[in-house]
Amino acid sequence: MREKIMNRKMKKTGLILITMFAAALLFTACKQASKSMTMVKKELYGNYKGKDVYLLTLTNKDGNVLKLTSFGARITWIEVPDRNGKKENVTFGYDTFDSMVKGDPYFGAIVGRYANRIAKGKFSLGGNDYSLTLNNGPNSLHGGPGGWHSVVWDCIADSGAKYPTVRFRYHSPDMEEGYPGNVDAEVVYTWTDQNEVIIDYNCVSDKKTVLNVTNHAYFNLHGAGNGNILDHELVIKASRFVAVDSTLIPTGELRKVEGTPFDFTKPHTVGERINDAYDQLKLGIGYDHTFVLENTELIDATVYDPSTGRLMEVMTDQPGVQFYCGNFLDGKQTGHGGKPYVYRSGLCLETGHFPDSPNHPDFPETVLRPGETFASRTIYRFSVRQ
Ligand code: GAL
Repeated sequence: MREKIMNRKMKKTGLILITMFAAALLFTACKQASKSMTMVKKELYGNYKGKDVYLLTLTNKDGNVLKLTSFGARITWIEVPDRNGKKENVTFGYDTFDSMVKGDPYFGAIVGRYANRIAKGKFSLGGNDYSLTLNNGPNSLHGGPGGWHSVVWDCIADSGAKYPTVRFRYHSPDMEEGYPGNVDAEVVYTWTDQNEVIIDYNCVSDKKTVLNVTNHAYFNLHGAGNGNILDHELVIKASRFVAVDSTLIPTGELRKVEGTPFDFTKPHTVGERINDAYDQLKLGIGYDHTFVLENTELIDATVYDPSTGRLMEVMTDQPGVQFYCGNFLDGKQTGHGGKPYVYRSGLCLETGHFPDSPNHPDFPETVLRPGETFASRTIYRFSVRQ
């Protein structure tokens, strides 16, 4: 009898424990789900060619904000503190959808199918010759005028993720802008509590094609629209860069940075040597070149603004990074808060492959075959130095 009671008591205690455990699990799961759901706010932003466009606001644990839009799967706002805790947006963008559509096509956008230039818009693959739309002098730039920066992507906030996460998807039809193959692209942005923008790319194709994707965010660590970036200190872990001709097409030479104004293996401000009488600076009208990444360390490039203490670190698995310092900005674009984006007021570190690789068999290959998945990750991490 006593045993029975004891058994019953134990059973009861067991039941209570199991119920408590289940309740705790449920509570944690709900908390996690509601946390990630509230951390991503999705609002209707506009309509483009009959498709609704959304604005997605991702807020992390410290209340820092990343804003994305499904038009071009763009980053339009990154709000991070300086060394005194003052928060400011450090990337180029526009206040309204209309101004974004009329504005610069690339601010913060995902660029594809082929980021950067393809000479004369021509390449051959599998015995076929392909011709792309020319939109940059004699060349094709950034996937052509109707590239991935200018289309509406499907988007979903990933409510099960640890950090605020948004998935963008786009089906790029066969021969879009002249490129072969139906390509299904997914770009996933994650905004971590460590102020990292993680960008994951996944692309598949049903035919042999070429692919080079990037994000084209412009950064100014003073805050977007606050002066130029010539005082930003830059490090790029690259001992060579891709030399170009006057139309910014690679000559084929991978030139050593040593002893040139392209040596950023140690910190240098962007402006320090930008006016040096050096052929590649003349041809690029400043820095507008792909650096050949060593990919040996976790961090591939850093940008530091001594005045605010803001630091941006760039990590990628890609073989190159295009360092462009806003040489074509002229103040005609007025962005957030009506601020003009003047000459050299923003810099880009576009991770990816080298320009015109389909015409340079000795460059790392950019061919995507059916059955393969192009999978790649780039991270922009923000912090401060005191
Ligand atoms: C960059 C490119 C520049 C310019 C810019 C868009 O990726 O390197 O030459 O075309 O995009 O304005």
